[in-house]
Formats: sequence, C-alpha cells, structure tokens
Amino acid sequence: MNEDLLNDIKHLLQWYRLNYGDEIALSEDFSLNLSIEEEEPAPAVPRAVPPAVETDVPSADTAKIHGHHPKLKAFYEQIRDCKQCDLAKSRKHFVFGMGNPDADIMFVGEAPGRDEDEQGFPFVGRAGKLLNKMLFALSMKREDIYIANVLKCRPPGNRDPLPDEVLQCEPYLKQQIEIIRPRVMVALGRIAGQVLLRSEASLKQLRESTHRYNGIPCIVTYHPAALLRNSGWKAAAWQDLKKIKSIMDDV
Ligand code: URA
Repeated sequence: MNEDLLNDIKHLLQWYRLNYGDEIALSEDFSLNLSIEEEEPAPAVPRAVPPAVETDVPSADTAKIHGHHPKLKAFYEQIRDCKQCDLAKSRKHFVFGMGNPDADIMFVGEAPGRDEDEQGFPFVGRAGKLLNKMLFALSMKREDIYIANVLKCRPPGNRDPLPDEVLQCEPYLKQQIEIIRPRVMVALGRIAGQVLLRSEASLKQLRESTHRYNGIPCIVTYHPAALLRNSGWKAAAWQDLKKIKSIMDDV
C-alpha cells in the first residue's frame, strides 16, 4: 500500500478515535460523540497560608502571545491597550493571539469568547479543546501553529462582530499575518473566511475551494464551536482537514 494512503488511514483512525472512542462508525446516522469531557475539578487542598489579596485582572503570559519574536512582541506592546472601539470597555483581556511566531500554518478565528476574555488567550475554552483534537488529526500541536482572531476583544454575549468593529480590528490581524508570514492559512468559520477573503459567500461556498490570501493558500473550514453544536458536520470537517494536510505537505 502506498505511504500516502497509509498515512491518510492513520489520520482518519486518529480522528475517529478522538471523537468516537474505540467504537466504529457504521453509518452516517451514527451519532458522533463530540462532547468535550469536563475536567475533573481539582480536590480541595486546605490552605496553609491566607489567600493572596485579589488585585487587578491577571495579565496573560506574554511569552505565549509573541514567543519573544521581536516584531510580534513590539506589535503586541503597541496595540495591547487599544481603545478604538467600545469592546475595550467591556473586555477583561485584549486577546492578541497565541502560538509559534515561526509557524508554517496560521489559524484565524472570529473573536474571543468568555474563557478567552478571562484568560487572555485565543481558543482556550470548549471550542479550543476541539480545535486541539483537529490539530491532533493533522499530527500537530498548539505549539506548531499561530492562532489569532479577527476581533481582539470579546463582543458582549458572543454576538457576531459588527462591521465597524471588524473595520477597526482587521488591520491588526493583517499586520500579524504580515509578521508571521505563514505558508498556509486556515479560516475557522464563515466570519473569519469572509473577512480574510473579502467575500460574502456562504461557508458552504467558501469551503469548496482553496483560496489565496495575499498569495498564501487559505482554506475555510467549520468553526469548532459550530462542530460542537452540529455533530453531522464532522465528516465534512474531516475532508477539510485532509485538504489542509495535503496543502501542508505540498508547500
Ligand atoms: N471562538 C473564536 O472564534 N475565537 C476564540 O478565541 C474562541 C472562540
């Protein structure tokens, strides 16, 4: 059997195992297990010392954000206190991005959610856990990618970004892409795809081709949060992952 086919089968089985456990999917009616197991709460440890006095919102670990990359770090310092739109008033953290500034692949999401706003990093909640599984199916880890959102601050109640907010914030994303210069880009969900590609096409249409963002191959796939809500899209997501893998292998 040729090596590509073997690798393909290996990755498909990894993807299935991650989502189904050790069960085998027999038909399309088989309901996929997309649940993300909640982590066991840590056992309560009696405190030997009084708790520290709570101060301000803790600042995010900046090394994870810019990886000490001089240009990315300087850009982060430049924009981290942005107050260009009203989202600055309600945010806890400005969520710049996270990961490896030398990554070959960059993922782009929509906007921070509640967990991301709390912690200051993108994709650290339930959608982030599923994203980690998707990366695993590509034989990658979070350390291998850079990830950022179109918006850097959480829209209240996780509503869709407003056109004005995108207008203000998108130049930040553009600059990040310019600094990181990935070889492949992946837009997670319709909104990231539409913004990056200046398109009004549906997610279905956007998924149909490999696009170019300033010459960089760009795939649009499902947002992990959408996959958590709609397990039926998992098989199509697998097709997208295969496409990403094959582009990565070619560039
Ligand atoms: N959804 C996004 O689009 N981005 C995040 O960082 C988290 C959830």
